[in-house]
Amino acid sequence: MDALDALLTRKSTALLQEPAPEGENLEKIMKAALRAPDHACLRPWKFIIFKEGAREELGEIYAEALRLKNPEVADAALEKERKKPLRAPLVIAVIAKIQDHPKIPHSEQLLSAGAAAQNIMIAAHALGFGGIWRSGDVCFDENVKLRLGATGHDEIVGFLYLGTPKTHPPIPEFNHSEFVQEWKSA
Ligand SMILES: Cc1cc2nc3c(=O)[nH]c(=O)nc-3n(C[C@H](O)[C@H](O)[C@H](O)COP(=O)(O)O)c2cc1C
Repeated sequence: MDALDALLTRKSTALLQEPAPEGENLEKIMKAALRAPDHACLRPWKFIIFKEGAREELGEIYAEALRLKNPEVADAALEKERKKPLRAPLVIAVIAKIQDHPKIPHSEQLLSAGAAAQNIMIAAHALGFGGIWRSGDVCFDENVKLRLGATGHDEIVGFLYLGTPKTHPPIPEFNHSEFVQEWKSA
């Protein structure tokens, strides 16, 4: 798919099935992630790929974090957390590895990791896959962060759920002029 077509036609899909990107396709997607703009080449990111049974372990991390936050939590709520990563055949956790730097603020490093996440979404779409970028409480939970190796100023940017779309929702039409203006000289 042409790059511009990929940008103009990407649409999130929550209903995902096998196959997920793997092998050469997954490699291309991860290479696309690394082409995100990155001030001072800090490479402020880490990507953790969860497939097959690893998704269940991620679900266990979610459930454990909820239990630690609320020891009285109902079993049904824990079970719901356990099942979350099973909503797609592949989940990629994107972590912004943020360091103190004399010139590059934390916000720029976070933006770079976010751009890498978006490159993943676009590359997956260009290769015929679909997905949805999800966050939720788990992204900001200290126990989840710790388990995924996000320490210090690191942030979990999101969990990218990828697979083959079961449905193809329509692409909404936006009037770009609502958000774009040309600066007029005084
Ligand atoms: C940082 C970030 C976190 C998000 N978290 C969630 C989420 O937890 N659950 C959800 O349904 N959508 C979430 N979204 C929104 C979807 O990824 C998606 O963009 C939205 O549903 C609009 O669909 P579209 O991408 O097709 O325009 C998040 C998006 C971003 C950028």
